Amino acid sequence: MSEGVQTSPVFTPRVFSGIQPSGGLTLGNYLGAMKRFAEMQDHGFETIYCMVDMHAITVWQDPDALRRQTRELAAGYIASGIDPNRSILFNQSQVPEHAQLAWVFNCVARMGWMKRMTQWKDKAGKNQENASLGLFAYPALMAADILVYHATHVPVGEDQKQHLELTRDIAAKFNHDYRTEFFPMTEPVIEGAATRVMSLRDGSKKMSKSDPSDASRINLTDDADSIAQKIRKARTDPEALPSEADGLEDRPEARNLVNIYAALAEQSVEDVLRDVGGKPFSEFKPMLADLAVEKLAPISTEMGRLMQAPEEIDAILSSGAERARSIAAPILKRTYDIVGMVG
Ligand code: TYM
Repeated sequence: MSEGVQTSPVFTPRVFSGIQPSGGLTLGNYLGAMKRFAEMQDHGFETIYCMVDMHAITVWQDPDALRRQTRELAAGYIASGIDPNRSILFNQSQVPEHAQLAWVFNCVARMGWMKRMTQWKDKAGKNQENASLGLFAYPALMAADILVYHATHVPVGEDQKQHLELTRDIAAKFNHDYRTEFFPMTEPVIEGAATRVMSLRDGSKKMSKSDPSDASRINLTDDADSIAQKIRKARTDPEALPSEADGLEDRPEARNLVNIYAALAEQSVEDVLRDVGGKPFSEFKPMLADLAVEKLAPISTEMGRLMQAPEEIDAILSSGAERARSIAAPILKRTYDIVGMVG
């Protein structure tokens, strides 16, 4: 090997992910993210999970609502099985290293990269001149969230794929410009039956907290009756369920309900269809409603209980922030050093 060429450092596996406390956790957040976060924790990975309040304020947030939503998200994480002793659970703004590394990445990322992001195009819409500068820079802060821990794996739903590609582009450009291999090429982990949970009213749209129709989504705070009612009213086609996954092609609503069932039951889509193939929706929907209530009711009850003790949540978050900083601070310091900052 020639002099000056570094061998690639081996990064210890470390999982990081985040959710915006912008209100209203949905079944999409639970199945696409939180449930899988808990599984990775239970598989013995070092896991770090965050409430990204600084991302949330890239669009307007009422201060009192933001405070409540941040605690509610913390309660949601815990109720979904994140154990704050085994995982590090914290609030982004309590670890200033995220914003500090994000500034360096703002100087690495190119305007053209940011302009091509579909989230920017969707959220800024036609009125880009009036969007916040933070919304434009959003992906650089997200790269900093991940890379300030040298995270190697990031579990997310499918809608975050482009952001994770950009994270790799930023890491690669930093490494290239500064002739180092300091930042890892993080792997997105987009797996399972529910990486893209769709609206219950329109199988071509993602289930989202911002959909004006409450019937389009299941909220983690919904009670048993409304969960059952929303599933009963979910849009479907008139055919019975197929016995094989191929039969779900071109049937987005049917596919969505089967995917949700599979993810909640922790079965493969093939196994679910082996059991329910041939059944009409009038039989399948009550089965799905029962399963959803069985799995989600304890989460909403536990969230409600935790929300009664906000001071407990705050204590968990500040101890999480301290643990997070002990990993992030040395990585930021080394980054500053590589960049040539004196200190
Ligand atoms: P956010 O807050 O929009 O969503 C949080 C997580 O939930 C997943 N998700 C879904 N998965 C399946 N089906 C759906 N309908 C659905 N809706 C939401 C998202 O894919 C995500 O995993 N930019 C991120 C937050 C973030 C982040 C990070 C994530 C900031 N920094 C670093 C990972 C790593 C976001 O807005 O997620």
